[in-house]
Amino acid sequence: MQLTVVDHPLARARLSRMRDERTDNANFRAALRDLTQMLVYEATRELQLAEEPINTPVTGTTGYSLAAPPLIVPVLRAGLGMADTAHRMLPESQMGFVGLARDEETFQPKAYMASLPESLVGREVFVLDPMLATGGSLVNCCTLLTDRGTTSITVLCALAAPEGLKRLEESGLPLRIFTASVDQGLNDKAYIVPGLGDAGDRQFGAV
Ligand code: URA
Repeated sequence: MQLTVVDHPLARARLSRMRDERTDNANFRAALRDLTQMLVYEATRELQLAEEPINTPVTGTTGYSLAAPPLIVPVLRAGLGMADTAHRMLPESQMGFVGLARDEETFQPKAYMASLPESLVGREVFVLDPMLATGGSLVNCCTLLTDRGTTSITVLCALAAPEGLKRLEESGLPLRIFTASVDQGLNDKAYIVPGLGDAGDRQFGAV
């Protein structure tokens, strides 16, 4: 597993706006969009390019496009707030969706929805989830993806807890993690500390 902390003054400023309890839903969503842009920018550095000759109004030159745009997969519900920005930066990408809920008998995260291509063999996948807390739901989601054949998953999250990173590392899944911060840890309710609260509620309201 490869971990990249995108520590940039703009990322710190947006993340602070998200952490601040005075930030309302609309401003929280705006800061998450900005932060997503920075995470996508960093995570796409190594994407392969295809070349083709193009003409500018002045002369011929070499043009570039993404050889294989990654599949974008927001995890519902909190990942939805990252989806539009990621898609704007990767407009050629397809988007799948994974919805996870806690199974009330086993207390384990369980997919109630997986809208994904049947085969992901040879495909790179970008998973969007603002909070990497225990890592349980991300292990579940990423296993769904590797079961379909991908060997390259990039997780973009605003915040990560060391406990969740350890769990992902131990999972042996083929992962790269991009986050704006590794926080102190989890509290007894599995919230990230200092964190930002419930990322779904902060974006969409507590419904
Ligand atoms: N999910 C959240 O939305 N917030 C946390 O702190 C942990 C998990």
